[in-house]
Amino acid sequence: MFGRRSNESGAPRRTLQQPAAAPAGAVAEAKTGTAAKNTAAAAAPPKPEPVEAQRKHSEEYYDVKTTVFNALIDTIDLTQLAKLEAAAAREEIRDIVSEIIQLKNVVMSIAEQEELLEDICNDVLGYGPLEPLLARDDIADIMVNGAAATFIEVGGKVQKTSVRFADNAQLMNICQRIVSQVGRRVDESSPICDARLPDGSRVNVIAPPLAIDGPALTIRKFKKDRLTLEQLVKFGSISPAGKTLLEIIGRVRCNIVVSGGTGSGKTTLLNCMSAPIDSDERIITCEDSAELQLQQPHVVRLETRPPNLEGEGQITMRDLVKNCLRMRPERIIVGEVRGPEAFDLLQAMNTGHDGSMGTLHANSPREAISRMESMIMMGGFALPTKTIREMITGSVDIIVQASRLRDGSRKITHITEVVGMEGEVVTLQNLMVFEITGEDANGKIVGRHRSTGIARPRFWERAEYYGETDRLSAALASAEVRDKHGNTMGEENA
Ligand SMILES: Nc1ncnc2c1ncn2[C@@H]1O[C@H](COP(=O)(O)OP(=O)(O)OP(=O)(O)O)[C@@H](O)[C@H]1O
Ligand SMILES: [Mg+2]
Repeated sequence: MFGRRSNESGAPRRTLQQPAAAPAGAVAEAKTGTAAKNTAAAAAPPKPEPVEAQRKHSEEYYDVKTTVFNALIDTIDLTQLAKLEAAAAREEIRDIVSEIIQLKNVVMSIAEQEELLEDICNDVLGYGPLEPLLARDDIADIMVNGAAATFIEVGGKVQKTSVRFADNAQLMNICQRIVSQVGRRVDESSPICDARLPDGSRVNVIAPPLAIDGPALTIRKFKKDRLTLEQLVKFGSISPAGKTLLEIIGRVRCNIVVSGGTGSGKTTLLNCMSAPIDSDERIITCEDSAELQLQQPHVVRLETRPPNLEGEGQITMRDLVKNCLRMRPERIIVGEVRGPEAFDLLQAMNTGHDGSMGTLHANSPREAISRMESMIMMGGFALPTKTIREMITGSVDIIVQASRLRDGSRKITHITEVVGMEGEVVTLQNLMVFEITGEDANGKIVGRHRSTGIARPRFWERAEYYGETDRLSAALASAEVRDKHGNTMGEENA
């Protein structure tokens, strides 16, 4: 009834600055944003480039937006608005904004007006300038470093976006809106906060004065369509034989540690490795922020809890893992092992809950062992090093190493067995490794997953018990690479 519709009938328009072509680095950004969809709905269907061009707004656009926004805030009662359903609130804002645009004699094209409306609705009701990024499925991480700089990770590469916030106060406001959904607060007195978006995305906020240049917001986008081992094969993260090997390892109840650096794909891999678990097993998952999407019917999901504002009520990962043991679990899956819960997980692995899994932060299987060791030592368990190592050897069967390589691709670089102890040293044996053979013209790393000539892994007996030896032998044999003399290329013990 207001401006939007009457403007469609053809009011005079002055077009805000629209760069002729989108900047190269930003073109990808326009693919699936909500703004893009709405623009398309309102005007002639735009090509991706012009939409992006509009998103990289001029100063003039931001001035108009501030004027309209301030007028809107003066006009509406935000508390009343909050009581409305999201769709109704959006409609209400749209009508008022359209009216303001007419009253203030701002002349803009329908497409611009649509975008302004969308922007303002997002600011008032949603996550402001973050909305278009949140709507995209191809983004892995969103990293906001203060109001002026927002980066995203797409296809393993980090790139800067043209998204910006009006100022740090607006950014702080949005951070506050995000964390208040999980009943938390972020401000000077409690400047660090973890939260989760309604869609499952993991959020961390660190605010000034700890973050010096304005609030830093990090979002790990939740993938609705979880990746499967088949897809990892398609991406080249693992070979078909490697996939079979991982499936067998998961199925025959090996205790598994997935090791990797930040964002290397540990959680994804853990999820994939859980797929072959039989549907009649009782699985209990413990996570800081529930990310795993297990497909089995019999799953209990547990999540840690940070302390409340008074510093009370914290439930740690260790509390969860310990409690898990009283819940008759058949498998325990710990999202990320980062502290003394390593001890409890190893004990669980050692005491009949074989087939348990966890991820941890390390850059190689060897480092994963020492990380576990130091986590146990720092947990205050007064055990001699040798005993801790024996405990690790007695519990963990397989370490799967995930890495993000320098070209942005994510690979499984090692499938390694924990074999035993030689004196005080834990012995490891690689079953399969990713070997880099070169780089193609586009800078993409070329390599191959190859087995190391081990015909009978240590978990052979388990494989026998589950009737998987033929598949196991075939997978290992098919991944062998021979040198020019016809000998299998082996692997030094790790
Ligand atoms: N093999 C892969 N190929 C392509 N993308 C992948 C692969 N594995 C994971 N990803 C994507 O990379 C992102 C990070 O993955 P994931 O959350 O599993 O990493 P992580 O190691 O658990 O990270 P963190 O250390 O932050 O917990 C996700 O968006 C995920 O979809
Ligand atoms: Mg993770």
